Amino acid sequence: MTSLTLTDLAWSPLGHGYCHHPFRLSDASLHVAAGEFVGLIGPNGSGKTSLLRCAYRFSQPERGEVRLDHHNVWRQSSRWCAQRIAVVLQEFPDTFGLTVEEVVAMGRTPHKGLFDGDTLEDRHLATQALKSVGMDGFEDHAFATLSGGEKQRVILARALTQQPQLLILDEPTNHLDPRYQLELMQRVKRLRIGTLASIHDLNLAAAFCDRLYVINHGRVVASGTPQEVLTVELLRDVFGVEALIDPHPLHGYPRITWITRP
Ligand SMILES: Nc1ncnc2c1ncn2[C@@H]1O[C@H](COP(=O)(O)OP(=O)(O)O)[C@@H](O)[C@H]1O
Ligand SMILES: [Mg+2]
Repeated sequence: MTSLTLTDLAWSPLGHGYCHHPFRLSDASLHVAAGEFVGLIGPNGSGKTSLLRCAYRFSQPERGEVRLDHHNVWRQSSRWCAQRIAVVLQEFPDTFGLTVEEVVAMGRTPHKGLFDGDTLEDRHLATQALKSVGMDGFEDHAFATLSGGEKQRVILARALTQQPQLLILDEPTNHLDPRYQLELMQRVKRLRIGTLASIHDLNLAAAFCDRLYVINHGRVVASGTPQEVLTVELLRDVFGVEALIDPHPLHGYPRITWITRP
């Protein structure tokens, strides 16, 4: 069982040719315990994707540390990380005519040598993963021809095939209709591996996350259980919206009702 710890991270696009970019990720600390489902919420442009990129060893922080258990990920190879962390991103990968089956099989790549073919075990894992996201039967379809929601489910299947110890998801439910939004969140939760997910829909975050971190202008401004974090004041201060919050009638977690003025 693997945990993720980010300590005092700082990152900015400045190192990437932007001399006066106003955004900066500062003093960002966060912990995902083994088996915990942690949500990252915040307005557009607040730094969710930037923080996740540091967490999965894509963006190297200027300061601070990212640890998988006690391993500093920047002292490990990218292959070492890929054997342990699976990532589901907002953008779909370029698949250059690959079939669904081939895309899902890519999940096994970090576990294989350069010239190894697919084993029976690899194929079994891929088939099981496609079944579990309701995409069995699509094996021979070109990935590029799928709808956004179907693509998202295939990419989740690829992540499952990777047999990760930690899962990082960047707004994974964006392309999905309500049924698949709920199914994806349930499926991820049932994996019982450490998961860090940026989530746009605060009601989904409240329903499924064990804990939430709130990020605004590149800083972590609140953390705790959904009940502790999702308050009328926080939604007003951070998101600039008015809402009613009451306990969900069946499950008790916070339920947000937006107040709109026609
Ligand atoms: N590689 C980059 N180059 C330039 N600007 C970037 C880069 N990555 C992030 N940013 C900027 O940093 C800010 C935070 O972006 P992001 O982390 O994507 O926010 P979020 O995911 O919360 O919407 C935005 O203003 C974005 O334009
Ligand atoms: Mg983002």
